[in-house]
Amino acid sequence: MIKKNKLDNKIIPCIIGLGYVGLPLLVNLSKKFEIIGFDINKKRVNSLRNGIDLNNEFSKNELTLKKNCLITFDQKDLSKSNFYIITVPTPIQSNYKPDLSHVTNACKIISKFIKNGDIIFLESTVYPGVTNDICKNILSKTKKSFYIGYSPERVNPGDKNHTISKINKIVSIETTNRKIINKVKKVYSHVCKKIFFSKNIREAETAKVIENIQRDLNIGLFNEIYKVCEKLNINFNEVIRLASSKWNFIKYNKGLVGGHCLPVDPYYISYLAKKKNVNMSIVLAGRKVNNGMKNYFLSKIKKNLNKLNLKNKKICICGVTYKPNVSDMRNSLAVEISKKISESYSNCYTFDPLLQMNDIKKLGLRPINNLHNSDILIILTRHNKVINLLSKCKNKIILDYFK
Ligand SMILES: NC(=O)c1ccc[n+]([C@@H]2O[C@H](COP(=O)([O-])OP(=O)(O)OC[C@H]3O[C@@H](n4cnc5c(N)ncnc54)[C@H](O)[C@@H]3O)[C@@H](O)[C@H]2O)c1
Repeated sequence: MIKKNKLDNKIIPCIIGLGYVGLPLLVNLSKKFEIIGFDINKKRVNSLRNGIDLNNEFSKNELTLKKNCLITFDQKDLSKSNFYIITVPTPIQSNYKPDLSHVTNACKIISKFIKNGDIIFLESTVYPGVTNDICKNILSKTKKSFYIGYSPERVNPGDKNHTISKINKIVSIETTNRKIINKVKKVYSHVCKKIFFSKNIREAETAKVIENIQRDLNIGLFNEIYKVCEKLNINFNEVIRLASSKWNFIKYNKGLVGGHCLPVDPYYISYLAKKKNVNMSIVLAGRKVNNGMKNYFLSKIKKNLNKLNLKNKKICICGVTYKPNVSDMRNSLAVEISKKISESYSNCYTFDPLLQMNDIKKLGLRPINNLHNSDILIILTRHNKVINLLSKCKNKIILDYFK
């Protein structure tokens, strides 16, 4: 028989939201804990139960979860947990204001089941104050004594070198209770290389959001340099190679910035800053330049196409997800560009080996399942699978903008 105090110490984590962030946590923690994965999307839950990750981050083999892992859309299953980890989306509204509805909904669902002593962690990217001012407030209505923390996620979909067990993780909780801190460390030590512990949640929230802003701004800077190099007929790639020979030059590349994080996070902190009468013009400058790259490449592509004899020629746009080797289409500028090109050229098709034909069709594009019969290939997202196919292509015109 298990002694009562042993039972009290048993941690049963529950991951709320099984997307790009939540699923890797579930898979890794299931190696050590009895665990629950909860998602409101029944289609997602059913496919995961069948070992299929429609995001293509895990193979069927990797998804063969142990019996100790329950994947569910039934809220009642949450009652078994005592350590909730929230990994739901944090998009923006059409007016660029943060949309925290998924986070507040997740907290309301957890509220129905938390017990005294439970631990709740938020992992979604937010602006400073959300964990304590919004999540804690919702959960406090239960009158239960719980512990809340924030641990931002750095998982990088499609990147096999920086998987969660190989990267450092910020873990923040504002308690001095050693027993709770030890429980938190016990859980998080299994999903990172090293914990960077913080006793201040707002600092941890801010750290995450600025990581992405720094990246967005740097890509914006390189996009701007690229545009001026083009105008001056200077080879951008060669300029970057030469500048990179300096010890403190930080190398980035030009690119189409998309996905759920970089195009969104600058608006989170600038929303809060505006409330405090701080104008974050530099933070938002990256957004302006990077969003503008859609029209920049669109007119460049059209200019290049118009120089060609297009009679009886089939055009194929290759790769439309937001970055190479991921099937995520959220905020993808490549999708936007493809739509515009397809509208202007009736002989234009879209090929993406990471998407189903139907997904491409749903975007309003004409899907095609191979490159063989196309004459002109426009490479927008350089998936490894696309690049491998290109090496086998003969007698085709290839417009590859992001080498
Ligand atoms: N995708 C990334 O590369 C990445 C990296 C670091 C941080 N983040 C941050 O992590 C958070 C999650 O991003 P994601 O890309 O994993 O999103 P996602 O859309 O891939 O997954 C979120 C999942 O949460 C589910 N969900 C929504 N509301 C729910 C609720 N109330 N209860 C249970 N499930 C719910 C959705 O159905 C979905 O399956 C965001 O804040 C994002 O900014 C994302």
